[in-house]
Amino acid sequence: MSKLITLHEFIMDRQSDFPYASGELSRLLSDIAVASKVVSKDVRRAGLMEDILGAQGNTNIQGEEQQKLDVIADKQFIRIFQAGGEVCGIASEENDDFMPFDSEFSKQGKYVVLFDPLDGSSNIDVNVSIGSIFSIYRRKSEKGTMATLEDMLQNGDDQVAAGYVLYGSSTMLVYTTGKGVNGFTLDPSIGEFCLSHPDMKMPEMGRIYAMNEGNVNICEPGIKEYIETYCQQILPGKDKPYSGRYIGSLVADFHRNLIKGGIYIYPDTTVDPEGKLRLLYECNPLAFIAEQAGGLATTGRKRVMEIQPTRLHQRVPFFVGSKKMVEQAMSFLK
Ligand code: AHG
Ligand code: MN
Ligand code: MN
Repeated sequence: MSKLITLHEFIMDRQSDFPYASGELSRLLSDIAVASKVVSKDVRRAGLMEDILGAQGNTNIQGEEQQKLDVIADKQFIRIFQAGGEVCGIASEENDDFMPFDSEFSKQGKYVVLFDPLDGSSNIDVNVSIGSIFSIYRRKSEKGTMATLEDMLQNGDDQVAAGYVLYGSSTMLVYTTGKGVNGFTLDPSIGEFCLSHPDMKMPEMGRIYAMNEGNVNICEPGIKEYIETYCQQILPGKDKPYSGRYIGSLVADFHRNLIKGGIYIYPDTTVDPEGKLRLLYECNPLAFIAEQAGGLATTGRKRVMEIQPTRLHQRVPFFVGSKKMVEQAMSFLK
């Protein structure tokens, strides 16, 4: 049997990929792993604990009802970033504004982290897979000062690292630093993430489509046409229609497509004219992972990571998954 490689060992080993690295990014990735172990522990007990399950009683800036676990996960990640010293500020889906850290220690941090602390909130109460998503950038402002909005509003192409944690039938952490994608499974008996999915590649083609089809009549007609005349038909080269699979937790839908091949679509609709998913906390990090695994991520018209963000909570239409499937879907849009 081959030796187990822990995430920590793997990160340390890969540090030499970055000749000028001083170890801060490695420490930051390790910190994220620690925070996600704590969140995972809470997720695993959610059904038993009244202080973990259910609604918080507030709505966030995006008008969405916050669940207790959204807030718990948000606080947990922020606490670890504030204590680590690698990060000078963060922006999170659950906070109105970005948060520059004001301690002298944190002002020395080289990085900012943008994250969705808990993705798939509507699935918490029904024991369905949920996740966390993170995106790391080098700061633009000067070291020793407070983080600025400009540090947060960077193109996806400038990401230094990105990843997600999936609290599914097992807890997994998947990340990239721009040199491929690797996945680690949490072994609860030793409390360590261990390398289980080295060098992940998204199949070029798959046969799964994931979309909230309740929206099919409120989005542009090309999408309905793609679903009805392409995904749901038997066509030359296809012996049966594609399978529709929609979990409603982006991380979980994405992870399945990363492994099996498939496409995920959340288009703009008449209800959400810019789409629903957030560019900085959801789309850019998953786009980075998709491209690093050989897949594609677009708005239906252009690469997601080329977009210059103008607002923290900016939303975009999102088409992500197997390269050929995303190209096929895009060909249905004018
Ligand atoms: P979040 O829980 O972080 O707000 O994200 C929910 C997102 C995403 O995870 C999911 O794919 C999508 O919203 C589901 O939206 P619909 O319920 O509109 O399908
Ligand atoms: Mn989300
Ligand atoms: Mn969320």
